[in-house]
Amino acid sequence: MRGEDMRSFRILRNWGQDELAEHLNQALGRKYTRPKISRWETGAERIPADVSAHLSPKRQPPRRDGALVLGFANFKGGVGKTTLSVNVADALARAGHRVLLVDCDPQYNATKLLGLPAAALFEERRTLFHALERDLGIADVVVRGPGFDVATSHIDLMRVETRGEPGAEFILKEKLAPLADRYDFVIIDAPPNPGKLTTMVLAAAHRLVIPVRTEPLDSSGLDLLLEQLSQVQRRLNTGLKVLGVVPNHYDARKAVDQILLGTIRDNLSAKFRVFEPVPYDSAFGKAGLMNQTVVSAWARSSGAKAIMSLVREIENA
Ligand SMILES: Nc1ncnc2c1ncn2[C@@H]1O[C@H](COP(=O)(O)OP(=O)(O)OP(=O)(O)O)[C@@H](O)[C@H]1O
Ligand SMILES: [Mg+2]
Repeated sequence: MRGEDMRSFRILRNWGQDELAEHLNQALGRKYTRPKISRWETGAERIPADVSAHLSPKRQPPRRDGALVLGFANFKGGVGKTTLSVNVADALARAGHRVLLVDCDPQYNATKLLGLPAAALFEERRTLFHALERDLGIADVVVRGPGFDVATSHIDLMRVETRGEPGAEFILKEKLAPLADRYDFVIIDAPPNPGKLTTMVLAAAHRLVIPVRTEPLDSSGLDLLLEQLSQVQRRLNTGLKVLGVVPNHYDARKAVDQILLGTIRDNLSAKFRVFEPVPYDSAFGKAGLMNQTVVSAWARSSGAKAIMSLVREIENA
């Protein structure tokens, strides 16, 4: 365990350094003090192995029915597909799950957010494009992200859009199948447009998470997605279900956001689960600029807390 992991463990529980010392003293029968915790957190001293083992996330038992494949999709741009998929992947991994994040967007924003070198990985033939277009498995192209694996993207992934052979929609599903026992969750960040890549995501997913902005529903991109979703459910993936809609960018202080959240709930909750909103929080953007997730950079932020509670819902799905 690194100092920063100890710090996020503590902050996520809303503990001060004194409280963490007290917790360790009770659990391990020691006499640690606040300055000791501080030295561990800043990296000035090594964290003893038993302290590390006690605080590290306990590996969750593997899901009995193999990896749950979760697509984050909406045909509207900028609603938070990438932000939520990367942050959810990170929080699931922190909770002890084996996670694969698949960046299925040729804009490769998830890859960039994590600071992974898209161009160099493309040269090394280690991107999703190489798995979908070439004779490689996804296991051959994944790279290790911060606590979870990532199938990275690159602008060339766009070339997959022109695949026209019968059954091309199933390529991603086919390539993910051998990994079912290797991961507990596969999180896929879909592109914003209704093309072949999005259809591949819909064909491969077991469940969809649909981020929407708190804005009028007719401009939320949802109509088009739901239309395509029902076709996919009839023709390509009869098992596909919507896990829920996540109102994102929600500003509880604005009356208009409160009204729009009410409209989203009134209109959608008969058909879909509407999760608690993820608040507007500048921590998302700032963490992204530092190639970090909100939980790693600002575990106490409202955004990090919302991600943690979304992840608890996903764990119980
Ligand atoms: N809850 C939030 N609070 C503040 N900023 C947010 C929030 N969610 C997302 N953002 C910001 O909004 C912008 C768009 O988010 P994001 O890239 O995740 O959307 P997207 O749906 O993946 O977009 P695209 O359709 O282009 O792929 C980013 O700058 C991101 O940092
Ligand atoms: Mg995106």
